[in-house]
Amino acid sequence: MNTTEEQKELEWLLMENPEGLSEHARQFSDLMMIYRCAIREVRTKLEVLNDEFSVRHRRNPIVSIKTRVKKPLSIARKMKQKHIEPSTEAMMEHMHDIAGVRVTCAFIDDIYHIAQLLAQQDDIRVHRIKDYIQMPKPNGYRSYHMIVEIPVFFSERKEYVKVEVQIRTMAMDFWASLEHQIRYKKQIEDREELQTISQELLECAEIIAQTDVRMQNIKEMIGEFCETD
Ligand code: GTP
Ligand code: MG
Repeated sequence: MNTTEEQKELEWLLMENPEGLSEHARQFSDLMMIYRCAIREVRTKLEVLNDEFSVRHRRNPIVSIKTRVKKPLSIARKMKQKHIEPSTEAMMEHMHDIAGVRVTCAFIDDIYHIAQLLAQQDDIRVHRIKDYIQMPKPNGYRSYHMIVEIPVFFSERKEYVKVEVQIRTMAMDFWASLEHQIRYKKQIEDREELQTISQELLECAEIIAQTDVRMQNIKEMIGEFCETD
């Protein structure tokens, strides 16, 4: 959808309930600030874990950290689609991916290591885990998903905020980014090659997964060599 179409949809939503929307506009922008703060907290925690690991093991398990706050229109659409009551309370309770953090790691075991270290921090609550590495999606998607709740402290209150953390290897991320572009951006749903494309994507995901395992094994072999140095 291009910007003009998004603009039109937003205008249409505004016309539907202008008072309601403008009333909540300020509250909404305050909430988005809270989500940005939560993202900062999670990012810092991950950076600290990465620094500590790199001092101990002389390599970085985390290759990159990307963050985003979901756009208002995407939030509104998803809430409507999931029949979530249009209130800030319901949004904070039921929308899990307003704040998103995507972590790419070098090796598969780095994913579990980082996830475990993050989960065991005593100010973090783990709300949900979906391990699409152990249980890949039928299309081949692999990634480790955590919904965590993190306290954000303000002058007069503390808020627990949900953040979706996706942790995957660089190879899994490469696949997921391309799959997303192909599947969602190019609108291929109606094309007759869809079946072939899906099968190709699935096979690529499997090759990538095997490569991740082989790279992990190579790392372990190198590790063993180092210990005998
Ligand atoms: P959503 O309502 O889509 O957020 O699903 P969910 O709440 O059940 O969460 P899930 O953990 O399954 O997926 C959340 C996010 O993971 C999505 O918003 C995507 O960013 C990513 N994701 C999940 N499945 C796929 C997939 O098949 N391909 C790609 N490229 N990304 C995926
Ligand atoms: Mg999502």
